[in-house]
Amino acid sequence: MKPGNSLMKHYLQFKDLRAEEYAYLFDRTRIIKTRFKNYEKYQPLADRTLAMIFEKASTRTRVSFEAGMYQMGGSVVHLTTGDSQLGRAEPVEDSARVISRMVDLVMIRTYEQTKIERFAAHSRVPVINGLTNEFHPCQILADIFTFIEHRGSIQGKTVAWVGDGNNMANTWLQAADILGFTLHVSTPSGFELDPALAGVADPTCLKVFKSPFAACEGAHLVTTDVWTSMGYEAENEARMKAFADWCVDTQMMSLAQKDALFMHCLPAHRGEEVAAEVIDGPQSVVWDEAENRLHVQKALMEYLLLGRIG
Ligand code: CP
Ligand code: NVA
Repeated sequence: MKPGNSLMKHYLQFKDLRAEEYAYLFDRTRIIKTRFKNYEKYQPLADRTLAMIFEKASTRTRVSFEAGMYQMGGSVVHLTTGDSQLGRAEPVEDSARVISRMVDLVMIRTYEQTKIERFAAHSRVPVINGLTNEFHPCQILADIFTFIEHRGSIQGKTVAWVGDGNNMANTWLQAADILGFTLHVSTPSGFELDPALAGVADPTCLKVFKSPFAACEGAHLVTTDVWTSMGYEAENEARMKAFADWCVDTQMMSLAQKDALFMHCLPAHRGEEVAAEVIDGPQSVVWDEAENRLHVQKALMEYLLLGRIG
Protein backbone atom coordinates (compact mmCIF):
# COMPACT_ATOMS: atom_id res chain seq x y z
CA MET A 1 0.00 0.00 0.00
CA LYS A 2 1.66 3.23 -1.12
CA PRO A 3 2.25 5.90 1.60
CA GLY A 4 -0.62 8.35 1.85
CA ASN A 5 -3.15 5.83 0.46
CA SER A 6 -6.49 6.75 2.02
CA LEU A 7 -7.20 3.04 2.57
CA MET A 8 -4.19 2.74 4.90
CA LYS A 9 -5.07 0.93 8.12
CA HIS A 10 -3.27 0.69 11.43
CA TYR A 11 -3.69 -2.25 13.82
CA LEU A 12 -3.54 -0.61 17.24
CA GLN A 13 -6.43 -2.42 18.93
CA PHE A 14 -8.44 -5.54 18.17
CA LYS A 15 -11.43 -3.36 17.36
CA ASP A 16 -9.55 -1.73 14.46
CA LEU A 17 -10.81 -4.55 12.21
CA ARG A 18 -14.35 -5.81 11.62
CA ALA A 19 -15.65 -9.37 11.97
CA GLU A 20 -15.61 -9.94 8.22
CA GLU A 21 -11.99 -8.74 8.04
CA TYR A 22 -11.12 -11.28 10.73
CA ALA A 23 -12.86 -14.01 8.74
CA TYR A 24 -10.72 -13.03 5.75
CA LEU A 25 -7.52 -12.93 7.85
CA PHE A 26 -8.18 -16.37 9.33
CA ASP A 27 -8.71 -17.78 5.80
CA ARG A 28 -5.48 -16.18 4.61
CA THR A 29 -3.64 -17.46 7.69
CA ARG A 30 -4.71 -21.01 6.85
CA ILE A 31 -3.41 -20.64 3.29
CA ILE A 32 -0.14 -18.98 4.31
CA LYS A 33 0.47 -21.55 7.05
CA THR A 34 -0.17 -24.51 4.74
CA ARG A 35 2.16 -23.11 2.07
CA PHE A 36 4.87 -22.53 4.65
CA LYS A 37 4.50 -26.07 6.04
CA ASN A 38 4.83 -27.40 2.48
CA TYR A 39 8.05 -25.42 1.95
CA GLU A 40 6.38 -23.38 -0.83
CA LYS A 41 8.08 -20.04 -1.37
CA TYR A 42 5.67 -17.10 -0.98
CA GLN A 43 7.37 -13.70 -1.05
CA PRO A 44 4.80 -11.00 -1.75
CA LEU A 45 6.67 -8.51 0.48
CA ALA A 46 9.97 -8.55 -1.46
CA ASP A 47 11.70 -5.15 -1.09
CA ARG A 48 9.39 -4.16 1.77
CA THR A 49 10.84 -3.33 5.21
CA LEU A 50 9.34 -3.66 8.67
CA ALA A 51 10.69 -1.52 11.53
CA MET A 52 10.25 -3.20 14.91
CA ILE A 53 10.48 -0.89 17.92
CA PHE A 54 10.79 -2.63 21.28
CA GLU A 55 10.59 -0.61 24.49
CA LYS A 56 9.87 -3.81 26.47
CA ALA A 57 11.38 -7.31 26.32
CA SER A 58 10.13 -9.94 23.88
CA THR A 59 10.84 -13.42 22.56
CA ARG A 60 7.74 -14.48 20.59
CA THR A 61 6.84 -11.10 19.12
CA ARG A 62 10.39 -10.42 17.96
CA VAL A 63 10.97 -13.85 16.44
CA SER A 64 7.54 -14.14 14.79
CA PHE A 65 7.60 -10.70 13.16
CA GLU A 66 11.25 -10.97 12.11
CA ALA A 67 11.02 -14.52 10.76
CA GLY A 68 7.63 -13.78 9.16
CA MET A 69 8.91 -10.74 7.30
CA TYR A 70 11.96 -12.62 5.96
CA GLN A 71 9.81 -15.56 4.92
CA MET A 72 7.62 -13.16 2.92
CA GLY A 73 10.64 -11.77 1.12
CA GLY A 74 11.06 -8.56 3.12
CA SER A 75 13.52 -7.37 5.72
CA VAL A 76 13.43 -5.88 9.20
CA VAL A 77 15.06 -3.13 11.22
CA HIS A 78 15.15 -3.72 14.98
CA LEU A 79 15.18 -0.71 17.31
CA THR A 80 15.08 -0.46 21.06
CA THR A 81 14.79 2.54 23.38
CA GLY A 82 18.39 2.08 24.49
CA ASP A 83 20.00 1.92 21.06
CA SER A 84 18.01 4.65 19.29
CA GLN A 85 17.16 8.32 19.79
CA LEU A 86 13.81 7.19 21.21
CA GLY A 87 15.62 6.77 24.52
CA ARG A 88 17.05 10.28 24.27
CA ALA A 89 13.71 12.06 24.22
CA GLU A 90 13.27 12.57 20.48
CA PRO A 91 9.52 13.28 20.20
CA VAL A 92 7.44 10.26 19.16
CA GLU A 93 5.89 12.38 16.40
CA ASP A 94 9.31 13.17 14.88
CA SER A 95 10.40 9.54 15.14
CA ALA A 96 7.21 8.49 13.35
CA ARG A 97 7.71 11.01 10.54
CA VAL A 98 11.30 9.88 9.97
CA ILE A 99 10.99 6.11 10.38
CA SER A 100 7.85 5.92 8.24
CA ARG A 101 9.65 7.62 5.32
CA MET A 102 12.18 4.79 5.25
CA VAL A 103 10.15 1.63 5.87
CA ASP A 104 6.80 0.19 4.74
CA LEU A 105 5.42 -1.01 8.06
CA VAL A 106 6.11 -0.40 11.76
CA MET A 107 5.52 -2.70 14.73
CA ILE A 108 5.77 -1.14 18.21
CA ARG A 109 5.88 -2.67 21.69
CA THR A 110 5.69 0.03 24.30
CA TYR A 111 4.02 1.25 27.50
CA GLU A 112 1.07 3.63 27.04
CA GLN A 113 -1.40 3.08 24.21
CA THR A 114 -1.36 6.85 23.68
CA LYS A 115 2.27 6.60 22.55
CA ILE A 116 1.47 4.17 19.74
CA GLU A 117 -1.54 6.30 18.79
CA ARG A 118 0.65 9.41 18.56
CA PHE A 119 3.15 7.48 16.45
CA ALA A 120 0.40 6.22 14.13
CA ALA A 121 -1.08 9.70 13.76
CA HIS A 122 2.23 10.88 12.27
CA SER A 123 3.15 7.75 10.32
CA ARG A 124 2.91 7.44 6.54
CA VAL A 125 2.78 3.66 6.83
CA PRO A 126 0.67 1.16 8.81
CA VAL A 127 1.51 0.71 12.49
CA ILE A 128 0.94 -2.57 14.38
CA ASN A 129 0.58 -2.85 18.15
CA GLY A 130 3.08 -5.47 19.37
CA LEU A 131 1.79 -4.98 22.97
CA THR A 132 1.04 -1.95 25.09
CA ASN A 133 -0.03 -1.66 28.72
CA GLU A 134 -3.62 -1.65 27.48
CA PHE A 135 -3.81 -4.11 24.54
CA HIS A 136 -2.11 -7.07 22.81
CA PRO A 137 -4.14 -7.59 19.62
CA CYS A 138 -1.64 -9.78 17.70
CA GLN A 139 -1.73 -12.30 20.54
CA ILE A 140 -5.52 -12.55 20.55
CA LEU A 141 -5.46 -12.88 16.77
CA ALA A 142 -3.22 -15.94 17.22
CA ASP A 143 -5.30 -17.27 20.12
CA ILE A 144 -8.56 -17.13 18.20
CA PHE A 145 -6.99 -18.68 15.11
CA THR A 146 -5.72 -21.47 17.37
CA PHE A 147 -9.18 -21.95 18.87
CA ILE A 148 -10.71 -22.17 15.38
CA GLU A 149 -8.09 -24.71 14.27
CA HIS A 150 -8.91 -26.96 17.22
CA ARG A 151 -12.63 -26.40 17.74
CA GLY A 152 -14.12 -24.42 14.81
CA SER A 153 -15.90 -21.08 15.10
CA ILE A 154 -15.59 -19.18 18.39
CA GLN A 155 -18.96 -17.46 17.85
CA GLY A 156 -21.40 -18.32 20.64
CA LYS A 157 -18.68 -19.98 22.76
CA THR A 158 -17.53 -19.03 26.26
CA VAL A 159 -13.98 -18.00 27.12
CA ALA A 160 -12.94 -17.79 30.79
CA TRP A 161 -10.28 -15.27 31.76
CA VAL A 162 -8.73 -15.98 35.18
CA GLY A 163 -6.27 -13.48 36.65
CA ASP A 164 -5.22 -9.91 36.00
CA GLY A 165 -7.51 -7.43 34.22
CA ASN A 166 -4.58 -6.56 31.96
CA ASN A 167 -3.75 -5.91 28.29
CA MET A 168 -4.68 -9.49 27.34
CA ALA A 169 -8.00 -9.33 29.21
CA ASN A 170 -8.92 -5.99 27.59
CA THR A 171 -8.18 -7.41 24.17
CA TRP A 172 -10.20 -10.59 24.81
CA LEU A 173 -13.10 -8.33 25.70
CA GLN A 174 -12.86 -6.42 22.41
CA ALA A 175 -12.67 -9.74 20.57
CA ALA A 176 -15.77 -11.08 22.36
CA ASP A 177 -17.69 -7.98 21.31
CA ILE A 178 -16.60 -8.17 17.67
CA LEU A 179 -16.67 -11.92 17.12
CA GLY A 180 -19.78 -12.71 19.19
CA PHE A 181 -18.65 -14.88 22.09
CA THR A 182 -19.02 -14.52 25.86
CA LEU A 183 -16.12 -13.60 28.13
CA HIS A 184 -16.23 -14.79 31.74
CA VAL A 185 -13.77 -12.81 33.85
CA SER A 186 -12.56 -13.35 37.38
CA THR A 187 -9.86 -11.12 38.84
CA PRO A 188 -8.87 -10.36 42.44
CA SER A 189 -10.45 -7.17 43.72
CA GLY A 190 -8.44 -4.12 42.73
CA PHE A 191 -7.34 -5.78 39.45
CA GLU A 192 -10.67 -5.71 37.57
CA LEU A 193 -10.79 -4.97 33.89
CA ASP A 194 -12.31 -1.74 32.73
CA PRO A 195 -14.96 -2.25 30.01
CA ALA A 196 -14.87 1.49 29.23
CA LEU A 197 -11.21 1.17 28.23
CA ALA A 198 -12.01 -1.68 25.84
CA GLY A 199 -14.96 0.35 24.55
CA VAL A 200 -17.30 -2.55 23.79
CA ALA A 201 -20.54 -1.96 21.90
CA ASP A 202 -22.41 -4.88 23.51
CA PRO A 203 -21.75 -5.11 27.27
CA THR A 204 -23.65 -8.42 27.49
CA CYS A 205 -20.58 -10.21 26.07
CA LEU A 206 -18.92 -9.75 29.49
CA LYS A 207 -19.83 -11.68 32.67
CA VAL A 208 -17.85 -10.91 35.80
CA PHE A 209 -17.37 -13.48 38.60
CA LYS A 210 -15.85 -13.13 42.07
CA SER A 211 -14.79 -16.77 42.07
CA PRO A 212 -12.37 -18.04 39.41
CA PHE A 213 -14.04 -21.46 39.74
CA ALA A 214 -17.43 -20.00 38.83
CA ALA A 215 -15.86 -18.18 35.85
CA CYS A 216 -14.55 -21.49 34.47
CA GLU A 217 -17.93 -23.27 34.65
CA GLY A 218 -18.98 -24.37 31.19
CA ALA A 219 -16.15 -22.54 29.42
CA HIS A 220 -14.88 -23.79 26.04
CA LEU A 221 -11.53 -22.13 26.65
CA VAL A 222 -9.79 -21.21 29.89
CA THR A 223 -6.99 -18.69 29.66
CA THR A 224 -4.71 -16.70 31.94
CA ASP A 225 -1.53 -14.65 31.96
CA VAL A 226 1.26 -13.57 34.31
CA TRP A 227 0.22 -11.90 37.55
CA THR A 228 2.68 -9.06 36.97
CA SER A 229 2.88 -7.63 33.48
CA MET A 230 5.90 -5.77 32.14
CA GLY A 231 5.98 -2.27 33.58
CA TYR A 232 4.26 -3.29 36.85
CA GLU A 233 7.24 -4.99 38.51
CA ALA A 234 7.14 -2.66 41.54
CA GLU A 235 3.77 -4.23 42.47
CA ASN A 236 5.08 -7.78 42.25
CA GLU A 237 5.06 -8.62 45.95
CA ALA A 238 1.53 -7.30 46.53
CA ARG A 239 0.30 -9.07 43.40
CA MET A 240 1.75 -12.44 44.48
CA LYS A 241 -0.44 -12.21 47.59
CA ALA A 242 -3.55 -10.84 45.89
CA PHE A 243 -3.52 -13.44 43.08
CA ALA A 244 -2.76 -16.55 45.17
CA ASP A 245 -6.26 -18.02 44.58
CA TRP A 246 -6.22 -17.28 40.83
CA CYS A 247 -3.98 -20.18 39.77
CA VAL A 248 -5.56 -22.22 36.95
CA ASP A 249 -5.30 -25.78 38.23
CA THR A 250 -6.88 -29.12 37.34
CA GLN A 251 -9.83 -28.47 39.67
CA MET A 252 -10.66 -25.25 37.80
CA MET A 253 -10.24 -26.98 34.43
CA SER A 254 -12.60 -29.77 35.55
CA LEU A 255 -15.45 -27.22 35.83
CA ALA A 256 -15.06 -26.14 32.20
CA GLN A 257 -16.39 -28.14 29.22
CA LYS A 258 -14.88 -31.63 29.01
CA ASP A 259 -13.02 -30.70 25.84
CA ALA A 260 -12.10 -27.17 26.99
CA LEU A 261 -8.77 -25.83 25.77
CA PHE A 262 -6.21 -24.05 27.91
CA MET A 263 -4.24 -21.07 26.55
CA HIS A 264 -1.55 -18.75 27.88
CA CYS A 265 0.21 -16.11 25.78
CA LEU A 266 3.53 -16.99 27.47
CA PRO A 267 5.95 -16.50 29.12
CA ALA A 268 4.34 -18.55 31.93
CA HIS A 269 5.18 -19.11 35.57
CA ARG A 270 4.27 -22.66 36.56
CA GLY A 271 2.95 -22.76 40.13
CA GLU A 272 1.79 -19.13 39.99
CA GLU A 273 -0.93 -18.30 37.43
CA VAL A 274 -1.06 -21.89 36.11
CA ALA A 275 -0.31 -25.33 37.52
CA ALA A 276 2.29 -27.34 35.62
CA GLU A 277 -0.24 -30.19 35.12
CA VAL A 278 -2.50 -27.79 33.23
CA ILE A 279 -0.02 -25.97 30.99
CA ASP A 280 1.85 -29.21 30.28
CA GLY A 281 -1.33 -31.28 30.16
CA PRO A 282 -3.53 -32.60 27.32
CA GLN A 283 -5.91 -29.60 27.18
CA SER A 284 -3.12 -27.07 26.73
CA VAL A 285 -2.50 -25.68 23.23
CA VAL A 286 0.10 -23.11 24.24
CA TRP A 287 2.75 -24.23 21.72
CA ASP A 288 0.30 -24.05 18.80
CA GLU A 289 -0.76 -20.66 20.12
CA ALA A 290 2.85 -19.42 20.12
CA GLU A 291 3.55 -20.82 16.64
CA ASN A 292 0.40 -19.22 15.26
CA ARG A 293 1.76 -15.77 16.09
CA LEU A 294 3.99 -16.29 13.04
CA HIS A 295 1.20 -17.31 10.68
CA VAL A 296 -1.46 -14.77 11.70
CA GLN A 297 1.02 -11.89 11.62
CA LYS A 298 2.15 -12.86 8.12
CA ALA A 299 -1.50 -12.65 7.04
CA LEU A 300 -1.88 -9.34 8.91
CA MET A 301 1.22 -7.79 7.30
CA GLU A 302 0.08 -8.97 3.87
CA TYR A 303 -3.36 -7.43 4.47
CA LEU A 304 -2.04 -4.09 5.74
CA LEU A 305 0.44 -3.74 2.87
CA LEU A 306 -1.30 -5.36 -0.08
CA GLY A 307 -5.00 -5.39 0.84
CA ARG A 308 -7.13 -8.40 -0.10
CA ILE A 309 -5.48 -11.02 -2.29
CA GLY A 310 -7.52 -12.53 -5.13
N1 CP B 1 3.27 -13.56 24.10
C1 CP B 1 4.20 -12.64 23.79
O1 CP B 1 3.92 -11.54 23.27
O2 CP B 1 5.46 -13.04 24.04
P1 CP B 1 6.78 -12.13 24.03
O3 CP B 1 6.70 -11.19 25.18
O4 CP B 1 7.91 -13.13 24.18
O5 CP B 1 6.86 -11.40 22.73
N1 NVA C 1 0.46 -9.24 30.10
C1 NVA C 1 1.84 -9.57 29.77
C2 NVA C 1 1.90 -10.21 28.42
C3 NVA C 1 3.29 -10.62 27.99
C4 NVA C 1 3.31 -11.16 26.60
C5 NVA C 1 2.68 -8.30 29.81
O1 NVA C 1 2.18 -7.25 29.37
O2 NVA C 1 3.80 -8.35 30.29
